[in-house]
Amino acid sequence: MCGIVGYIGERDGQKLLLNGLKCLEYRGYDSSGMAIYLEKKKAISLRKLSGKVKNLEVLLEKKPLFGSLGIAHTRWATHGPPNQLNAHPHLDCKGEIALVHNGIIENYREIKQMLLKETHTFRSQTDTEVIVHLIEKFYYKDASLEEATRRAAKLLKGSFAIALFSDREPDKLIGARCGSPLIVGLGDKENFLASDVPAILDYTKKVIFLEENELVVLEKERVKITNFEGEIIKREPVNISWTKEEAQKQGFPHFMLKEILEQPQVLEKILEQRIKDSGIFFEELGSSSPVLLSKKLSQIKNIFIVACGTAYHAGLVGKYILESLCRIPVLAEVSSEFRYHSSFLIDKDTLVIAISQSGETADTLASVRQAKMQGAEVISICNVLGSTLTRESDAVIYTHAGPEISVASTKTYTAQLMILYLFALYLAVLKETLSKDRINDYLEMLKQIPPKQRQILSNLKIIREIARKHSHFGSFLYLGRNINYPSALEGALKLKEISYIPAEGYAAGEMKHGPIALIDEYRAVVCIIPESKLYDKMLSNIQEIKSRSGKVIAIASEEDRKIKELVSQVIYIPKIEELFSPLLVALPLQLMAYYIAVKRKCNVDQPRNLAKSVTVE
Ligand code: F6R
Repeated sequence: MCGIVGYIGERDGQKLLLNGLKCLEYRGYDSSGMAIYLEKKKAISLRKLSGKVKNLEVLLEKKPLFGSLGIAHTRWATHGPPNQLNAHPHLDCKGEIALVHNGIIENYREIKQMLLKETHTFRSQTDTEVIVHLIEKFYYKDASLEEATRRAAKLLKGSFAIALFSDREPDKLIGARCGSPLIVGLGDKENFLASDVPAILDYTKKVIFLEENELVVLEKERVKITNFEGEIIKREPVNISWTKEEAQKQGFPHFMLKEILEQPQVLEKILEQRIKDSGIFFEELGSSSPVLLSKKLSQIKNIFIVACGTAYHAGLVGKYILESLCRIPVLAEVSSEFRYHSSFLIDKDTLVIAISQSGETADTLASVRQAKMQGAEVISICNVLGSTLTRESDAVIYTHAGPEISVASTKTYTAQLMILYLFALYLAVLKETLSKDRINDYLEMLKQIPPKQRQILSNLKIIREIARKHSHFGSFLYLGRNINYPSALEGALKLKEISYIPAEGYAAGEMKHGPIALIDEYRAVVCIIPESKLYDKMLSNIQEIKSRSGKVIAIASEEDRKIKELVSQVIYIPKIEELFSPLLVALPLQLMAYYIAVKRKCNVDQPRNLAKSVTVE
């Protein structure tokens, strides 16, 4: 959570840092701030306030900061309310060091007590402020800023990515990471720090990802990375292939709509990359990766899928896919539970699949570490190149969905699903659980998904109308069966997170065990009923809801006449084998949530209380 940008160079620091913050606002947006070294005064000057980055921009127009060394931050509050005092950057007692922080310092109370006794005074309620005071403590004991930061970092417990500078060493910008991502961007006579790549894409594509417990000192023409013991670390930069355009709205009213509409392209790219001459290719799992040789993969006895939120729902669909295609037991669990509960069920014959868009989700990372300690191999399915998850897994399958900026996951969800389908077919080949013909049939069906998705997206009007008609409902129920039970969970999550309407997802077979009591004329019920072996069962559920005056919105296969006779609000999707239907069903669910949120004038891309990347527990 929270976004960090830092700059040292020769350009207008204010402009550059502000631009970076705008690209990072999806990480947190309840307050923001900036500190710049003013050459003329040889001092730090600070602007910060509550609210979005726009507020900071207005403030900086009135009271600009001129300088080429600075740090900036957009906050997602953890300690202390989102007001001006708690906004970052924070300063030491003398105002000579400015610092921004992402993460949570778990031992901040103890450190604060110690520092209070040493006459430090604190201005905010944040955990962050103790870091800058701790650095100050060491700085005035003859250590350089680098050394003082290192000493302080070693005393901190919890997670942090920090960026700081001092007016006593204005040729240096310092960063350190432990548990929260931080990257270094390399330029010509300038260098950058950021919590995420989009912040610096306008200026450089050459990036170094800091590893755990590393500290970096940036000067205009030099970057030095060390560990917390002070040992030098050499690391080559990687070239980021995302373009700035890919990370921008391109005329769409919201990133979420843009990202929903990108899905056919994203899936086409995955299919092109993975299917060649009717073979399925996962080079990253082949002989080039000694730990996950195909022989070993074919011998695994069970699979655990760990993930959070939408990625967990993709994992639940993955369970249905892998169990039916590979005849292997699969347990999908939310990472926050798995890390404290299920890891003891794992051994060396278990494969763990961790799914995460950001690759920085704290609970998923902790689960992966637990699983590895138990001897399991970990494959991650991830979207963000070089993220912590990708570095800690035995093998990585990238979704290559491009940057997802809207907080609600859409294109990365279907990209995760597509990877899971292809991976299951790949494993089915290794385990010989499906005939060659069957696999070819399935691959052909998967190739039909992007055009079928385009068909859905070519008629947004019906979905928009249905969404508008139901936007005043006070609560929603989503029902599905079999492989579309997770689709129901995902539909409900999408709606609640961006429209704030209470919504629940249920397995339709569970209706009679409780949720049916909710049904009356004020309840909107989204029923996922594509052609499937359980179609008639779902139809009976719909009858039961209708006879209790519930307002049904059905998502059904085209040419379904029975449903038309029963329900007036139907969204049709193209026909497809039930196994693959989640790849189509996801689109109307996402669009419904989107249009309802727009109608209710919600902040679609940055819903309240949420952040794109959940780097704290
Ligand atoms: C919902 C959403 C979240 C994320 C969850 C996991 O739309 O975006 O539920 O899916 O926070 O994030 P990642 O995939 O980055 O691990």
